[in-house]
Amino acid sequence: MKLKVGVVYGGKSGEHDVSLQSARSIMEAMNPEKYEIHPFFIDRRGNWFYREKEKVYLSLDTEEKGFVKATSGEFIAIDVVFPVLHGPYGEDGTIQGLLEMAGIPYVGAGVLASAAGMDKGIMKALFARAGLPQVKYTTVYRYRLEEAIEEEIKRVKEEIGFPCFVKPANLGSSVGISKVKREEELLPALQLAARYDAKIIVEQGLEGVREVEVGVLGNYHPQASVVGEIIPSNEFYDYQAKYIDGRSQLLIPAPLPEERAEEIRKMAIVAFKAVEGSGLGRVDFFLTGEGKIYVNEINTMPGFTRYSMYPKLWEATGLPYSELIDRLIQLAQERFADRSRNAV
Ligand SMILES: Nc1ncnc2c1ncn2[C@@H]1O[C@H](COP(=O)(O)OP(=O)(O)O)[C@@H](O)[C@H]1O
Ligand SMILES: [Mg+2]
Repeated sequence: MKLKVGVVYGGKSGEHDVSLQSARSIMEAMNPEKYEIHPFFIDRRGNWFYREKEKVYLSLDTEEKGFVKATSGEFIAIDVVFPVLHGPYGEDGTIQGLLEMAGIPYVGAGVLASAAGMDKGIMKALFARAGLPQVKYTTVYRYRLEEAIEEEIKRVKEEIGFPCFVKPANLGSSVGISKVKREEELLPALQLAARYDAKIIVEQGLEGVREVEVGVLGNYHPQASVVGEIIPSNEFYDYQAKYIDGRSQLLIPAPLPEERAEEIRKMAIVAFKAVEGSGLGRVDFFLTGEGKIYVNEINTMPGFTRYSMYPKLWEATGLPYSELIDRLIQLAQERFADRSRNAV
């Protein structure tokens, strides 16, 4: 009997297109001997389709786990879902909550870790609690921009200074992020971020940093991959550099002394555990010229094309792409079995 895997992709986020690419790669690589693959596409408005044609609904009947075709009423049984969704409504605990309600095992982080990893404010608080080094930061709320803009600008100037990075708290792919070098650029940067989120993070901007990333894989006993490095094609790793111009480079493994790489890999595991991750996570760091390491963020559903950092890190660590997918599905089932032990 093949395992029936629902690959859910697209979604209502700015990272819709990235998700399409990740999902296509995953479905191509999944072993057809082992899996029956069922593609579920979510359009930009949030409507769900089977094979991009027929409207479907997720069944919330836990005796009948799967989807129901809207017109014919035909049932599509599903054993595990791989939510290949990045950003809001995908990587933030919302779809994870939906799948919990439906009683279907799913790949990756649960509700809490997804939400915590998506919200840069909560993520930083959890990292701080775990003793991880981070750049100085502060939170600015949109309502404060509306009520007391001058006070907020003054506070950011005093607490953080320039250059700083202004980021919507709950987003990814560098959308809405600005590097601010001078005071007069601060207000427009805050206003831009406030278009995307009611909560904004302003943090100390590091100059001339190296950006390195580690893949983490596992549930209670997570493993870290080799360290990879990104050479962004722009001044920082913005949306253009990530997805458009194709000129950013990945160096795997990153050219680093062994002890340094080991230190970073250990920190990646600490970061993964700090948000109580499961399945997978990519932990991103900054390395300064003075040899300081700062944790930047964790992504609980990192880009997952064949050419994305996360799968490439695992390939370089000895786990090929299709075996990585096997492992993630297995981890999803293990996590589900563990949660099913809880008394109700
Ligand atoms: N404090 C910082 N100092 C220097 N560069 C930064 C800083 N914060 C972010 N950046 C740059 O901006 C990019 C996107 O920021 P990041 O926090 O990773 O947001 P996202 O979640 O959208 O990926 C980073 O990859 C890096 O190039
Ligand atoms: Mg990032």
